Amino acid sequence: MMNRVRLGVNIDHVATIRNARGGGHPDPVRAARQAAEAGADGITAHLREDRRHISDSDIDRLAAEIDLPLNLEMAATDEMLAIALRHKPHAACIVPEKREERTTEGGLDVAAKHRQLAPLVTRLSDAGIRVSLFIEPSAVQLHVAKALGAPVVELHVGAYCDSEGAEREMHLRRIQEAAVQGASMGLEVHAGHGLTFETVGAVAAIPEIVELNIGHFLIGEAIFSGLTSAITRMRGLIDTARAEALGRASA
Ligand code: PXP
Repeated sequence: MMNRVRLGVNIDHVATIRNARGGGHPDPVRAARQAAEAGADGITAHLREDRRHISDSDIDRLAAEIDLPLNLEMAATDEMLAIALRHKPHAACIVPEKREERTTEGGLDVAAKHRQLAPLVTRLSDAGIRVSLFIEPSAVQLHVAKALGAPVVELHVGAYCDSEGAEREMHLRRIQEAAVQGASMGLEVHAGHGLTFETVGAVAAIPEIVELNIGHFLIGEAIFSGLTSAITRMRGLIDTARAEALGRASA
């Protein structure tokens, strides 16, 4: 059980805005530096096959210039494996990727893709990179992730964030159950995708969840309040939710 939830700030969409005009502004590395000062525990960046936001040179600079652990989100391809092995980020999170999607639409089907994933998990782990698999909160996916030897799973919480009412409650229960089950199997459990000020508390309150990765909402919110303020508020909501949950558990 963890008292403090780690917050990984995903800076992809700083690059999205930069790429809308070309040139160098706004600079995702500057955003990463500011995120570090605002209390982020790690920086997350997704180098997509089509390079629609983060570029190869962003990854070069993040690896060289930022002291926080870098979590490289990557598709299970030979190209991305070579890049990860060259940079040796602290962590690699393997995500599904479809060229036509707007964002990562769901978790990686590790059960269907285990043959393709097994050598990738081994090569990354052998290089000292902490491998995480971005999966739907389901027992089958957890078992296959464990069998693949990944030490970490990140639960896709997008369906919870995108739904309302009873449906949202149902998705939250699935996340809670998967977190308990994953932790009992010895997996480190993370969560991410779609989290906002409104949705983060219930996920941060799940004691088995060790890390949250949050991007789009924070970068969007930064337009109105600034990046430091957005991250500080998110950090506060996470810490309060976790403290209240631990307080309830020990009462
Ligand atoms: N975690 C993973 C594995 C992701 O692929 C993403 C999106 O790139 C995120 C977290 C962050 O999601 P969001 O930008 O919706 O906060």
